Amino acid sequence: MAIISSQANSSQPGDHRNPLLQPETTAEDVAEYSPDETKPQTQIQADEKIRPQQLTDYIGQSELKEVLQIAILAAQSRQEALDHLLLYGPPGLGKTTMALILAAEMGVGCKITTAPSLERPRDIVGLLVNLKPGDVLFIDEIHRLSPMTEELLYPAMEDYRLDITIGKGKTARTRSIDLQPFTLVGATTRVGALTSPLRDRFGLVQRLRFYEPEELSQIVQRTAKLLDTPLTDSGALEIARRSRGTPRIVNRLLKRVRDYAQVKASGTITEEIAKAALELFEVDPMGLDWTDRRLLTVTIEQFNGGPVGLETLAATTGEDAQTIEEVYEPYLMQIGYLTRTPRGRMASPAAWTHLGYEPPKRQLPLF
Ligand SMILES: Nc1ncnc2c1ncn2[C@@H]1O[C@H](COP(=O)(O)OP(=O)(O)OP(=O)(O)O)[C@@H](O)[C@H]1O
Ligand SMILES: [Mg+2]
Repeated sequence: MAIISSQANSSQPGDHRNPLLQPETTAEDVAEYSPDETKPQTQIQADEKIRPQQLTDYIGQSELKEVLQIAILAAQSRQEALDHLLLYGPPGLGKTTMALILAAEMGVGCKITTAPSLERPRDIVGLLVNLKPGDVLFIDEIHRLSPMTEELLYPAMEDYRLDITIGKGKTARTRSIDLQPFTLVGATTRVGALTSPLRDRFGLVQRLRFYEPEELSQIVQRTAKLLDTPLTDSGALEIARRSRGTPRIVNRLLKRVRDYAQVKASGTITEEIAKAALELFEVDPMGLDWTDRRLLTVTIEQFNGGPVGLETLAATTGEDAQTIEEVYEPYLMQIGYLTRTPRGRMASPAAWTHLGYEPPKRQLPLF
């Protein structure tokens, strides 16, 4: 499988985060795509080893899997390329993994890139003309495409054709280049930021959900087996519960707990060991990190539980509004700690209790 990997690193403000819980894509994550399967096994990074390779290993997201399974079978029976697919959802839920699995299931190659690295038209042209029939082109952070690149993609997606303008002014001519049928898989954490012409050209638009603790527990058990780490059922569930519904985090926490179990105990990860280790690493029982807790504490202490506007919350906490919206809020809303109202964000009574505050009898807006 030919894979091109490129930069997808967005640095975020603030240096107080618990790195174990950071859901953002890091350079490390991007480097994990081994560009060459002929490399010796030792060179393939450990992370790549634990990434599921086929649909049956991909745990959870049952609706998504069903939709894709149907699309794969239909495309295969018609001997066509799979429809273009847009995957959206918070970081670390398995978008890249799904793109690689799709290519593997279809028996085609997969090229991976990110929108910010496709700034010049020739970047996307180079990728597209080199695709083989049926190949998957995966574009991460697709909401960040430059307008020129996006324009080039429209006919490429619709008619497998590139329209290139040569020359300038009166002498400018348009040349069309035929492309092989291919599948574009776009991934984004911000589906609302996509232009509608681009969004409309995806035949399949699918959201990835946060995982249930039971699903994360299965994921961490699978990873532990691959890493040869003894892990009890209740140990797995303890790590799963503290992983913000996110496979990338559950795998990351497992590695830290494994270190702790080896140094402080016999090596087996039990519930007690997992608890002690995660407490040491400041991962709270709901998986909240410093920033999550700060967002809720500020909402409660300074705004009487809200409603507080996103910009105000950002200014008061010193966090970036977009990061709050894309990275922190989705999980806090999923577990019912934060609600969005037309007048701003509100901390729920469960959030008050979790942080050790007594929830007000009736939550009164400040103004
Ligand atoms: N359904 C799953 N079952 C098992 N493991 C999974 C699943 N989804 C993701 N993982 C694991 O979690 C890790 C992160 O997944 P992936 O890189 O696909 O996330 P992503 O959605 O692309 O994140 P980002 O938005 O940050 O790019 C993978 O390395 C993989 O091992
Ligand atoms: Mg990814």
